[in-house]
Amino acid sequence: MRILALESSCDDTSAAVVESDHGLISVISNVVSSQISLHEKFGGVVPELAAREHVSNILPVINSALKQANIAPDQIKHNIDAIAVTSGPGLVTSLMVGVETAKALAHTLDLPLIGINHIEGHIHANFIGNNKVVLPAIILTVSGGHTNLVSMDKEKNLVIVGQTRDDAAGEAFDKAAQLMGLGYPGGPIVSRLASEHSSSGGQQHTIDLPRPMIGSHDLDFSFSGLKTALLYALKNDHEWKQKIPAYCHSFESAVVDVLVSKTMSAAEKFHVKTILLAGGVSANQKLRSVLQSSAESKGFLFSAPELTYTSDNAAMIGAAACHKLSTLRLADASLLKASPNQEL
Ligand code: KG4
Ligand code: ZN
Repeated sequence: MRILALESSCDDTSAAVVESDHGLISVISNVVSSQISLHEKFGGVVPELAAREHVSNILPVINSALKQANIAPDQIKHNIDAIAVTSGPGLVTSLMVGVETAKALAHTLDLPLIGINHIEGHIHANFIGNNKVVLPAIILTVSGGHTNLVSMDKEKNLVIVGQTRDDAAGEAFDKAAQLMGLGYPGGPIVSRLASEHSSSGGQQHTIDLPRPMIGSHDLDFSFSGLKTALLYALKNDHEWKQKIPAYCHSFESAVVDVLVSKTMSAAEKFHVKTILLAGGVSANQKLRSVLQSSAESKGFLFSAPELTYTSDNAAMIGAAACHKLSTLRLADASLLKASPNQEL
């Protein structure tokens, strides 16, 4: 089964051709056009600009994905079994570009159309090239817009069992970077400076930051207080500009401590076999390594997506669609709508 998948929920325009063969998912092509350079001067994504960029990028991106998969324009129908697209959650005007393009393609080519939840897509990035994941699992999904603990049963049904009450983990990294004037998106910058601090042996400059809700007896998160604690720590330190790597290291440690602690509690509570990571923040090396060692020390299996599939991309949407196509009756394609607040 081969799927042409589209993703345009935020500021990346992406198209991919994904194949499923006896349950093993492989990526034939995955093209991502990033808009970071357009939005970084505003310190965040400007929805109107993002939608306009998607409109001009989406057809060239689809053409490149098909070309890289060696599928000629007049051969799409013979090489593709279905079209998949992110239908939500995300920025509504960005989502609409992908959804309406996918509807037009499915209609013209008379192919089934599959709407995919963006978070479900991030989760299914774990199954690209890996059909050995042992279920049930707990998945820590951490991105710029979401922070959830999700349980997955043996049939890959998903249930949210914990979530952030305010900021998402990626949003917290982005806001921390903004407070220190480091640029956008902040996660990769904060984590690079944090690891430079560790490798320079700079442990003596540890800034005391809270671990919000680490002791609460539930599986929820809160990161807005941590951001405020960082703001006050910076305000009270006249020399903070000389200690930015130390601040990044302490901030990253606080976020990772909370994420790992809650994920371990969820894994124990639901008696799962495996802990999985998903979402843009799953590119964070410290989170990957601390969660892996905590999981393995308690007898859980651990897996995380390949780095290429951690940030927004259409291959993960294709991977989720392969699963959906094998389990669901398809709804009427013309009814698919962009759903900015779509629940998992
Ligand atoms: O999943 P994603 O690409 O987009 C959303 O669905 O939101 O996630 C983007 C988020 C941003 O907040 C970005 O700062 C964060 O992921 N991020 C990271 C790292 N790489 C990306 N956060 C921490 N460490 C990283 N290495
Ligand atoms: Zn995402």
